[in-house]
Amino acid sequence: MQLGKELLYLSYADVAAVGPDMAETIAIVEQAFRDKGSGVTQLPAKTALHPLDEDAFLHAMPAWVPSHQAAGVKWVSGYPGNAAQGLPYIAGLLILNDPGTGLPIAVMDCAWITAQRTGAVSGLAARHLALPGAETAALLGAGVQGRTQVRALLTEVRTLREVHVFDPRQEAMDSLTQDLGQEFPSVHLAPAAFPEEAVRGADIVVSAGPILKHPRPTIAREWLKPGCLGLPVDFDAMWTGEALNLDNYLVDDLAQYRYYEQQGFFAAAPEPAGDLGDLLAGRCPGRTNPQERIISMNLGVAIADMPTARVVYDRAIAAGKGRILPL
Ligand SMILES: NC(=O)c1ccc[n+]([C@@H]2O[C@H](COP(=O)([O-])OP(=O)(O)OC[C@H]3O[C@@H](n4cnc5c(N)ncnc54)[C@H](O)[C@@H]3O)[C@@H](O)[C@H]2O)c1
Repeated sequence: MQLGKELLYLSYADVAAVGPDMAETIAIVEQAFRDKGSGVTQLPAKTALHPLDEDAFLHAMPAWVPSHQAAGVKWVSGYPGNAAQGLPYIAGLLILNDPGTGLPIAVMDCAWITAQRTGAVSGLAARHLALPGAETAALLGAGVQGRTQVRALLTEVRTLREVHVFDPRQEAMDSLTQDLGQEFPSVHLAPAAFPEEAVRGADIVVSAGPILKHPRPTIAREWLKPGCLGLPVDFDAMWTGEALNLDNYLVDDLAQYRYYEQQGFFAAAPEPAGDLGDLLAGRCPGRTNPQERIISMNLGVAIADMPTARVVYDRAIAAGKGRILPL
């Protein structure tokens, strides 16, 4: 491929064919957060549009992650109403640039990378914050992200034996538990009749339903057992204020979190102790005892997308995947 004259286009299938597996992706995002903790990444806050409906978004997400020589921007949409038309909630494109010249080197579908890295960030949080020996996990929201969330937890936390899944769509629960049950045959995955049934007794609780500006949260503080780790990827949509006010509260990026606070999210949440970069740099405490209940509120950051995309790009070039297009 000739720099400045051509770029590589990768479809969803191309990206999925060469993308790193979950264990590799967790390692990629861990390095990205270590870079962030040492202050060498660049991660401007998301720029958001909300055409037509405040629960629908278009986000521009740029980042520079030096350890992977990864610079670029993701332009991603999230439309909760799309499901009714058989269209995905999350969709978009990612542009990767050559960091030396700034020239674009690739345009790729971003849905696979988004789901993969969102799972990986939860896996990373679980690596550092879950109760050692955690055996049971709960998932609320068995959609696209729900799958990679469970895959990441089962990849990272090898002591997990049970996963309880709630989704108002029975078919979503059934297909997720069947598919991931085949992938992880030693783990018991089961649908739950209602959210409390899934969450009570779980060592790790993930929520991955729609993000709503005016949510009706369901997760109650008393459902959360001592020692549990909460991993919302859908902001505060499912968590009551009491359920967020536990013993420790971390976020993935403080600056971005502040932006969303100003937009009206997280009004009932406590003050964050720090972000995942701070945690990996040792600037804020992680788990200090087995009783502690911790939330890691990971809103999604482009420092997780760009290095994953760079690995995808390098592997696609090596494998001859995708289409080379003229600039
Ligand atoms: N934090 C991040 O980094 C990040 C990244 C990507 C997506 N997201 C968010 O993750 C969420 C899920 O995205 P997706 O791509 O999986 O969407 P999806 O539409 O594929 O899945 C959402 C699922 O939630 C279910 N659901 C709806 N209401 C529910 C409820 N009350 N309780 C339990 N489940 C419920 C739906 O039936 C659906 O199966 C969205 O809010 C999205 O914005 C976050």
